Amino acid sequence: MSKIEILQVGPYPEWDQKPLEEEFTVHRYFEADDKPAFLRRVGGAVRGVACRGESIVNRQMIEAMPKLEVISVYGVGYDGVDLDVCRQRNIRVANTPDVLTNDVADLVVGMMLALGRGIVPADHWVRSGAWKDKGPCPLMHRVHGRRAGILGLGRIGQAVGRRLAGFDMPIAYFSRAKKPEVGEWTYFDSPVELAGWADVLFVTLAATPQTRHIVDQQVLEALGPEGMLVNVSRAANVDEEALLDALENRSLGGAALDVFENEPALNPRFAPLDNVLLQPHQGSGTVETRKAMGKLMRDNLGAHFSGNPLLTPVI
Ligand code: DGY
Repeated sequence: MSKIEILQVGPYPEWDQKPLEEEFTVHRYFEADDKPAFLRRVGGAVRGVACRGESIVNRQMIEAMPKLEVISVYGVGYDGVDLDVCRQRNIRVANTPDVLTNDVADLVVGMMLALGRGIVPADHWVRSGAWKDKGPCPLMHRVHGRRAGILGLGRIGQAVGRRLAGFDMPIAYFSRAKKPEVGEWTYFDSPVELAGWADVLFVTLAATPQTRHIVDQQVLEALGPEGMLVNVSRAANVDEEALLDALENRSLGGAALDVFENEPALNPRFAPLDNVLLQPHQGSGTVETRKAMGKLMRDNLGAHFSGNPLLTPVI
């Protein structure tokens, strides 16, 4: 029996690639030089898409796959997938929530500490010989006890909050709705009010057209010259030009960022800044979690093609 044909939109580690290719005929879209021509050639036979959290699967691509039934995202974010077309065409979409929550939350705490305590420049201070030549490195402000504002209190936001409670940080949040399960954490009615209260603002919300630039100039001003922004969600949730302006003119204290517009080609304005910590979109990037994400991505495809419900459906 011939294998089901799928389109692979982004690269996977070998431990995922091999089992995927054992189960399906895999068309490696991400390797094609002329992607529209590639899609014209193979699109007619494709019944499934395997992509990454940051992949784009837009209307034009979906229209080139008339037999498409399911899109399985290797990632919790699915903002690159055109859900409207999927709904119109009755195409199912799955993602990989839960398995990555704790790793992303761990990195958030690491980023806060690294930026707040200047861990990366302090490492350079030691390596460069400045410690020996110039003496102790510059003092930073303490992190524990500062006020933590969490923008988006889904699974990742809540896991971040649980960790920050261990740093004696008072916690508040803004979310689509109040979350009774988080007990004493304070709810704010708007991102600006939350930022006005917070010392550190964590952006952990799923990106949608409605959340685009939810962290805008006003929010950054409210966070202020002593404030820190930590973004591990999507670049689109922050007005990056406004952020760069605020970092350059020091109206914002600092930012720790794992996501960028046009990543991995960053805006060159980031490089000279000494008040940013830059990470290569690696929130879920541990061996253990990436293996779990790959398995879940394949299991969702397998479930669909054996006539069962998706394990972790988006729609
Ligand atoms: C996710 O899981 O969405 C990560 O950001 C990777 O894209």
